[in-house]
Amino acid sequence: MIVSNRLPVDHVSGEGEDAVWRTSPGGLVAALEPVMRARDGVWIGWPGMADKKVDPFVADGIDLIPVPLSAKEVEEYYEGFSNDTLWPLYHDVISPPSYHREWWDAYQRVNRRFADAALAVAAPNAIVWVHDYQLQLVPKMLRDARPDLIIGFFNHIPFPPYGIYSQLPWRRQIVDGLLGSDVIGFQRVADAGNFARAVRRLYNYETRGNLISVPIDESAEKHGQRHTAVGRRGHPVRTVLARPFPISIDASMFQQLAHDPGIQARAREIREELGNPGTVMLGVDRLDYTKGIRHRMKAFGELLAEGTVTSEDVCLVQVASPSRERVEAYAQLRDEVEITVSRINGDFSQLGHPAIHYLHQGYPREEMVALYLAADVMLVTALRDGMNLVAKEYVASRIDQDGVLVLSEFAGASDELRQALLVNPHDIDGLKGAMLHAIRMPKRDRMRRMRAMRKRVLTHDVQRWSATFLDALVREDHSDPANNLDIPKRVMPAGSYGE
Ligand code: F6P
Repeated sequence: MIVSNRLPVDHVSGEGEDAVWRTSPGGLVAALEPVMRARDGVWIGWPGMADKKVDPFVADGIDLIPVPLSAKEVEEYYEGFSNDTLWPLYHDVISPPSYHREWWDAYQRVNRRFADAALAVAAPNAIVWVHDYQLQLVPKMLRDARPDLIIGFFNHIPFPPYGIYSQLPWRRQIVDGLLGSDVIGFQRVADAGNFARAVRRLYNYETRGNLISVPIDESAEKHGQRHTAVGRRGHPVRTVLARPFPISIDASMFQQLAHDPGIQARAREIREELGNPGTVMLGVDRLDYTKGIRHRMKAFGELLAEGTVTSEDVCLVQVASPSRERVEAYAQLRDEVEITVSRINGDFSQLGHPAIHYLHQGYPREEMVALYLAADVMLVTALRDGMNLVAKEYVASRIDQDGVLVLSEFAGASDELRQALLVNPHDIDGLKGAMLHAIRMPKRDRMRRMRAMRKRVLTHDVQRWSATFLDALVREDHSDPANNLDIPKRVMPAGSYGE
């Protein structure tokens, strides 16, 4: 069973047979949808609209169990605690987090509702895989009610260093909620380390390597708990495996789309529509302040202002899909981005050659692959990002082995895609240098880098990710499974652009 905040589809309009659904936004759904289509199981989540009661249904071969949220819960649990407290806190406080006790109350209530929905349908010894920061209390709720369940949790976003995490007034409860899991997965080595540190600081539990020892009482041991042992302090403990499992994409699906002659024709058409500039640079993001969209635009604006590039030679296509629009920080970001786009276009566009093509819309996968094929340079300049699957989608789509990826060292993907042009997006000169390097890079160098990145993404796809996580989850002994995600050892920034 998968339990996540959103179902893979959002309700748009209509009822019953006439209901209209569309694919939900974000990396979580993009990654888990192919995993669930290949397996038997149910997916529990919110249908994306307030006050909507929907009966369980099947979409694209996946059994879905909708969990309703009232308008007030959307405001307090989803927009509030999840996206105005935890989201900014877990992303290096790029935007200041808000702490409100009523939001915390709503978070607990809604987590309980998701746990109850899972408990209502979980067979004995079922595997329940809970996802992301919106549902961190669910693992413990499940374990307390049903110790027979096999419980996994995967955190799709970063887990912050303790100095930041410790701001959270409910820091102990969240850690306790997560420790209800048998296995907790993180994107990066650093995230798993930050979590283990929080456990030590807040609970003083023993940690050894990737294993955390959670004290239990004797009766729990008798009630069939898995992974029990005697801890070094002589008390019975339950061990929790907390380690990195970097997520990926359905790479072969992107390759297949890239081979489609219709999509290739669309890519050529896009370049023509853009006026056949020498270089097309592309950004694809949810409109979120973590994505570094303004930093990217600032760097591009300066290159235009200095005359290093012109809007005839180089254009930037920025897809910014609408996201969390009722949260103040997002509304503000939209204004800032749109003012920046207007200024740059006003100052530097030429008739028929706008400098920035700004698209505040979401697109189907086919159009995205056409855009990836049309783009000479892909800009992923996140200030902080759990993984960033767009970077991997671009690489998987480039069946011609061409194209340059400019990638922030603050995105999880930079641990694996070492042949990208790695940048510190706060360093605007460095970012400009990387853009110019990407624009001018000889084809041989482009292809050498792209080939190496493609090898990584094609061999480490989402199927491998989920198989590795589930393998770790069902193991009786918690021995670390053969690390077949083989995360490259060198995970520190390796001479970023501009250094
Ligand atoms: O990957 C982070 C994440 O918050 C997912 O949990 C979520 O599905 C996606 O981004 C999109 O966000 P939202 O569901 O708030 O639109």
